[in-house]
Amino acid sequence: MEDLKGLILSGGEGTRLRPITHTSAKQLVPVANKPVLFYGIEALVEAGVTDIGIIIAPATGDEIRTAVGDGSDFGATVTYIEQDKPAGLAHAVLTAEDFLDGSSFVMYLGDNLLKNGISSLVESFRENSPEAIILLTAVDDPSAYGVAELDGDRVVGLVEKPENPPSNMALVGVYLFSPAIMEASRALKPSGRGELEITEAIQSLIEDGREVQSEVVKGWWKDTGQLADMLEANRLVLQEIETRIDGELENSKVEGRVILEKGAVLRGSVVRGPAVIAAGTVVEDAYIGPYTSLGSNVVVRRSEIEHSILLSGATVEDLGTRMEASLLGRDVRVTRTDGPPRTFRLLVGDRSEIEIV
Ligand code: TTP
Repeated sequence: MEDLKGLILSGGEGTRLRPITHTSAKQLVPVANKPVLFYGIEALVEAGVTDIGIIIAPATGDEIRTAVGDGSDFGATVTYIEQDKPAGLAHAVLTAEDFLDGSSFVMYLGDNLLKNGISSLVESFRENSPEAIILLTAVDDPSAYGVAELDGDRVVGLVEKPENPPSNMALVGVYLFSPAIMEASRALKPSGRGELEITEAIQSLIEDGREVQSEVVKGWWKDTGQLADMLEANRLVLQEIETRIDGELENSKVEGRVILEKGAVLRGSVVRGPAVIAAGTVVEDAYIGPYTSLGSNVVVRRSEIEHSILLSGATVEDLGTRMEASLLGRDVRVTRTDGPPRTFRLLVGDRSEIEIV
């Protein structure tokens, strides 16, 4: 059934993931060595949604176009829609008006990951034809999210980041909409934070007496908008990988679930999975611990790393202390020089964070 389109939001500023987002889109940060955005595209295609529009920002749009192409690698047709400024999720919907062309659609936030995909959600939208279905999950700190007030699985109200949350059920970044959301979005005024809020558009559907349903997420959900969540998403995805050793092992040991791509080399090293190591990467006299993803052409020598993501071309040498819970961008170098003076020498970009023990 080709009536339902997909709209993936891959614009935004990504302020919470600076400095990575100064030079790159957060949706392209790899989780288990695959860009976050690709999981979203795959989830849509798996649910039978192959006509996909991707919202991009002027600064990072080209990089996303290059990574995703025309969508054919995913079995999809992709249309790029540039949003001139990150003026909110409902603003993104309005920006996509020509692409959506009166269709119902799935809106998917490009930095979100759902373990079980969205097929059942899409199916229930097709069966029941409500004006909207929102996806919910129980959270410990509802005041940080959009929160739903429920009567059974009917949504009776929505509030953005409430001081007194009506429930602990937060909105997950996947929504199903009939074309009615377009009109509701058009009527919005910017919120206190200057955005056109999709929660307010959905609220107005409810107030108009339209049917807004909810489903609770099965399996885990992660919004990868900040470092801790990105690392947690990496951990959750790595937990489910199947061991595959196509690279070379010299005097090295691999324990647990590990993917070692062809063209990766381990020398005198121990890798304790779950971990993935991409092609062209060299690990020498080193320990790679659980929940670590090493991108392509990474070098790790005489160092210990765990629970971390290293993007392609990063180098870590002679650290002396184990590195953990870290995200290193492309071509980052963390090394040690010989001899005195025993000082730190740093060349670090804007908004980098370094914690020394
Ligand atoms: P957010 O993470 O809420 O916003 P952001 O990307 O600007 O990040 P930060 O809060 O750290 O500055 O956005 C969720 C997703 O939606 C993300 O993939 C970016 C995308 N998005 C758009 O495409 N257009 C928009 O106007 C906004 C606000 C977000």
